[in-house]
Amino acid sequence: MAKDPVRVLVTGAAGQIGYALVPMVARGIMLGPDQPVILHMLDIPPAAEALNGVKMELVDAAFPLLKGVVATTDVVEACTGVNVAVMVGGFPRKEGMERKDVMTKNVSIYKAQASALEQHAAANCKVLVVANPANTNALILKEFAPSIPEKNITCLTRLDHNRALGQISERLNVQVSDVKNVIIWGNHSSTQYPDVNHATVKTAAGDKPARELVANDEWLNGEFISTVQQRGAAIIKARKLSSALSAASSACDHIRDWVLGTPEGTWVSMGVYSDGSYNVPAGLIYSFPVTCKNGEWCIVQGLPINELSRKKMDLTAQELSEEKALAYSCLS
Ligand code: NAD
Ligand code: LMR
Repeated sequence: MAKDPVRVLVTGAAGQIGYALVPMVARGIMLGPDQPVILHMLDIPPAAEALNGVKMELVDAAFPLLKGVVATTDVVEACTGVNVAVMVGGFPRKEGMERKDVMTKNVSIYKAQASALEQHAAANCKVLVVANPANTNALILKEFAPSIPEKNITCLTRLDHNRALGQISERLNVQVSDVKNVIIWGNHSSTQYPDVNHATVKTAAGDKPARELVANDEWLNGEFISTVQQRGAAIIKARKLSSALSAASSACDHIRDWVLGTPEGTWVSMGVYSDGSYNVPAGLIYSFPVTCKNGEWCIVQGLPINELSRKKMDLTAQELSEEKALAYSCLS
């Protein structure tokens, strides 16, 4: 029997990530090849005409799984009945801007949209915040939508996770699909800590530690980390626009694994509400290694943390605490 359609909200749908993301959702890349979807697309009035153009293209693409499109500048209409909300709307960072520069503009949007989601989304709606500062926008959304369970509000660090996999695969000249269990700890910013201490690579002789195969601690503790941390800025420098296709693809990975589950023995990175695991202060949205099953994520527990990792995990937590304070000062 055909499944009932799932309603997927994409905010900022007329923007560049939105333009890459909505066809992926309509093709089943986010929720699976047998899952019909109804797309809800929200943007602001100056982008209404462009948004309508995206809707026209979705109709023209004749996606078999796409059972309807709502394209609107009305936040209530956009949020009504949605099961999955991908929050991309906001102002992107431009060349030369620090992430903090975009904070003032974006946190107030997330405060306002929190109420609309809380009142009009389907019960148990899963929320993924992509727009920067992603962790802090997600935290603001959580705090201003108190009736949405905190487990349902997450932010995107899967792009950073995928970037880390990509760097290891390039370095070792192996398939990216053979590398797993890197971790992104902390903020989706240049203080994030990409950790390879538990990562493995599939070889003919079984899974081997990535650190052993790379056999170059100087690179792993230096250039590897800074390349992943600075990749967003490097893309902006090269394209004069921030990452879009990789962000959209990673957003699909995030929701797909959350809804359909992570493969056995594999974890992924998600920005989630900290419960104090790994001595990360509770009350921040912090990226952890998680496994997912039956639509729920769970932080991977008990990984040994060495001194270098501890320092880097604390540094990014510190930045998130400062961002939280700054966000509240922007809202007051
Ligand atoms: P963009 O400027 O191309 O698109 C953003 C869209 O949001 C625009 O169409 C704009 O009109 C719309 N918008 C603005 N305010 C809105 C509101 N109140 N409600 C609904 N829509 C609104 O930007 P983009 O390149 O698509 O990037 C979107 C966001 O994603 C940026 O904040 C960017 O920094 C962030 N980003 C995050 C990651 C990540 O990994 N977390 C990666 C890349 C980009
Ligand atoms: C990215 O990681 O590509 C984006 O978050 C862009 C940015 O502002 O760094």
